[in-house]
Amino acid sequence: MVKIRYLGHACFTVSEQGKTVIIDPFLSNNPLAAEKPETVRADLILVTHGHFDHSGDAVTISSKTGAPVYTTFELASRLETLGAKIVGGNHGGTNDFGFAKVRICWAAHSSSFGEKLEYAGNPCGFVLNMGGKSIYHSGDTDLFGDMRLIGERHKLDVALLPIGGFFTMDADDALVAVEYLKPKFVIPMHYNTWPQIEADPASFKSKVESKTSTKCVILKPGEEFTI
Ligand code: NI
Ligand code: MN
Repeated sequence: MVKIRYLGHACFTVSEQGKTVIIDPFLSNNPLAAEKPETVRADLILVTHGHFDHSGDAVTISSKTGAPVYTTFELASRLETLGAKIVGGNHGGTNDFGFAKVRICWAAHSSSFGEKLEYAGNPCGFVLNMGGKSIYHSGDTDLFGDMRLIGERHKLDVALLPIGGFFTMDADDALVAVEYLKPKFVIPMHYNTWPQIEADPASFKSKVESKTSTKCVILKPGEEFTI
């Protein structure tokens, strides 16, 4: 049984057999966060890109728990200078952490770190294999055709996709992403944190379930879904 818990914005924990992976920790300064960075459990931290609403609490959580941050090489190196344990990879690479196997894949977005917008390499998404389940977190991204390839190469159980628009694809594009990825379940993210990214997850759900065979699971911050 793999437990996916939504902590708000693009942050999720994925837990199985006492091990927890946290993706895109943004808990301090997040109006909808369901946890605090000081108390969240983590054995591995995945960060899709350097923007504060994804990398914000990575260093704090790594320092507190000793969990490594796995992300692209440039961002990992930057986080290491701030005290995080790191594993720096890159697109196409897979790292086996024992309890989880994680592939870094493409995302169509930008990446920078800190107030001075320091170079942070390219943004990414992840395919996380844990407890026999395959979970895709797209990170912040536009819709791109190679999502088809991700769907072909990995039989996805769950896709975590942004629907908020403005900085990422919106719900209409996320519907096409679902058609490309063909996951069993989709969970919408990256919406309603701020007015710019307002979206209606219920209307996304009804479109997904009328046009595809994927089921849409809407999680409020703090809620979880078990597969
Ligand atoms: Ni971003
Ligand atoms: Mn973002």
